Amino acid sequence: MTAAEVVDLVAMGEDFVRDPYPVYAALRERGPVHRVRIPEGAEAWLVVGYEAGRAALVDPRLSKQWKNAAPSFPISSPSAGPHMLNSDPPDHERLRKLVVREFTPRRIEQLAPRVQQITDELLDAMLALPEGRTDLVEALSFPLPISVICELLGVPMLDRAAFRGWTSTVLSDPDPGARLAASGEVAAYLADLLERKRLDPGQDLMSDLIRTTDEDGDRLSADELLGTAWLLLVAGHETTVNLISNGVLALLTHPDQLAALRADMTLMTNAVEEMLRYDGPVETPTFRFTTEPVRIGDTVVPGDGELVLVALADANHDPARFPEPGRFDVRRPAGGHVAFGHGIHYCLGAPLARLEARIAVRTLLERCPDLALDAHPAALPWRHGMLIRGPQRLPVHWKP
Ligand code: HEM
Repeated sequence: MTAAEVVDLVAMGEDFVRDPYPVYAALRERGPVHRVRIPEGAEAWLVVGYEAGRAALVDPRLSKQWKNAAPSFPISSPSAGPHMLNSDPPDHERLRKLVVREFTPRRIEQLAPRVQQITDELLDAMLALPEGRTDLVEALSFPLPISVICELLGVPMLDRAAFRGWTSTVLSDPDPGARLAASGEVAAYLADLLERKRLDPGQDLMSDLIRTTDEDGDRLSADELLGTAWLLLVAGHETTVNLISNGVLALLTHPDQLAALRADMTLMTNAVEEMLRYDGPVETPTFRFTTEPVRIGDTVVPGDGELVLVALADANHDPARFPEPGRFDVRRPAGGHVAFGHGIHYCLGAPLARLEARIAVRTLLERCPDLALDAHPAALPWRHGMLIRGPQRLPVHWKP
């Protein structure tokens, strides 16, 4: 098969959604880049393997700006406005710098007691269930990150159910019209909220972003504020939900690893890195478009706005970088994984995601000594789409 033949990932159906790793591995055997059809409704060039993936993530000829997509590209940008993840240098540096000023490690560290408190409250409610069984996504993985990001940004009692519906549609709905409509709803909600914060600022990140001005007097425009708030809210909860769910699922399906972690909770920091490597929440990151022809292996990807996707999931399973990649091992040196990306767009929220996952998983294991999966792993329903990877539901049980 030549690289220009289209591999139809959609036709592979649920098997691919549930377990894409063998498909990526088979493609990697043949070469580092492949033409594929994706469920979002487009064709793309899929980059597989660790070295090729990292190289693509830092290639300046791959643009994050949607205006560089080919005119015939069938998908519209979901974003509410300009932000760092849909811009290239020099705008990217400017937009990221203004947010980094406010998104400090100190601010994240200060959140730890609050993350613990929200986790405790969620687990109190879960463990009070007399039947001793629940869906862990509903009980913990979903509500924790959304509560944290809403508090950080200063989003008041947002209608969480509606918000969840919108962001999940934006990121995973196969219908482009539905994705765009949901994105519009989030944008309208945030525009209204930003206006209220302008009139009545608080101590939150969104108010600080409105106020912030750097040494050169630069600040975020109204459009950029809206785009940035949208990015932080969407990126800040959909991803972490699936780090918690995928991580707990990996532990519950590997009893020896679960036992090792329970016996020595100091392994938690490394265990979370291994969860990110073994089954990270971002399968392929956001879109990149060619601005010049790019040679990857023996293939030249044309330079006229072609979509390039980097299979982070496969980079993290490349045996050339991680021996026996399919083995989940909480003691393995998992550093160097690309679950948070690589290069200038490396995840800004990585410290927050790690903090939430460590607290959530540790507290869950401590408070639930007999936690077990309440479904056959092969029967779990998985999220659709190339971007986010995680189970829609994670049934668990324990002795009440
Ligand atoms: C486990 C959880 C998370 C994972 C796996 C993750 C993954 C990623 C990845 C792969 C990228 C790079 C995308 C690309 O290159 O196309 C990224 C960028 C980003 N993430 Fe995360 N993320 C997580 C949590 C968060 C959180 C909690 C926040 C914020 C509160 C956040 C904010 C961002 C932002 C702002 C960017 C854009 C950075 C830039 O363009 O310079 N993420 N994330």
